[in-house]
Amino acid sequence: MTIPLHPRAEAHGKVIVLGEHAVVYGYPAVAAGLPQGIVLEAQPRPDPRLPVTLTIPAWDLDLELHPGSDHPVARACLEVLAHCDGPVTGWAIRGASALPSRAGLGSSAALTVALARLVYGPDASIDDVVAASLAGERVFHGEPSGLDSRVAAQGGVLRYVRGEPPRAINPGAPLPLCIIPSGIPRSTADQVARCRSRLEHLPSVVRPVLIAVGQAVESGIHAIEHGDLDTLGVLFDVAHGLLGALDVSSPALDRMAADARAAGARGAKLTGAGRGGCLLALVGDAPETLTAAFPNLRPLFVEVAAS
Ligand code: PMV
Repeated sequence: MTIPLHPRAEAHGKVIVLGEHAVVYGYPAVAAGLPQGIVLEAQPRPDPRLPVTLTIPAWDLDLELHPGSDHPVARACLEVLAHCDGPVTGWAIRGASALPSRAGLGSSAALTVALARLVYGPDASIDDVVAASLAGERVFHGEPSGLDSRVAAQGGVLRYVRGEPPRAINPGAPLPLCIIPSGIPRSTADQVARCRSRLEHLPSVVRPVLIAVGQAVESGIHAIEHGDLDTLGVLFDVAHGLLGALDVSSPALDRMAADARAAGARGAKLTGAGRGGCLLALVGDAPETLTAAFPNLRPLFVEVAAS
């Protein structure tokens, strides 16, 4: 008999507001769930012996999840299904998402969280869903901090420290964010390795940079809780400089950050692994000038409030 799946499951996308890279070394990060996530729907296949399929048109994915597949998404999904004792045959899973994939917005965590929920159902605990998602995330990232899976499952604004229970943050005012995809692909594993290599080369200089990133997170959380967007904007700019010192920015991201500030953003920084992926700007008084500053890049505007 085919192992059952629930008909529908959802998960959030995510954006790292502050703290990327330093979070790998145990410093805090703050991230926000995005309403743009993923919805998965499962339907039985006519022949229950046929392999599970996964089709997500928005991400150009149309896969059969058969053991031995060398497609990373198929391998990650099979790891999740194995972790949850889910089915490997008899189901067609279809996904819809308004999130760009491979842009540092948590698409893989959203997928693996939603897949775990198809097996466990809507009442599953966040911890169980995160553990299943991490089984898949390890295929993509080797050694993920776990931040993406947590935010994909829980949403809202979270302070996250590796290995500790996350703390929900209550914004004093909605955070007006603008996420601008650079269109440049990025590899999280490569960027984590770049940062590590700089730390190993110059530990006495680079360790204080990681500590400063962690301090920017604590000050950023205070600013978020008090609705102090001006201070938060300054912290975005500082964080972008610190990430440059960690060797994970690029001339293209530096230019985008400068353009966003010139277009009235309160602050701007790379978000996620860096060298590609997205820029995150804190919107100022005139969002339309930000749109005009990036005519070809389709900025995504999001208001993040308490969950
Ligand atoms: O994969 P991305 O672009 O969402 O960013 C990863 C964030 C890092 O801090 C660089 C790595 C991690 O596992 O937290």
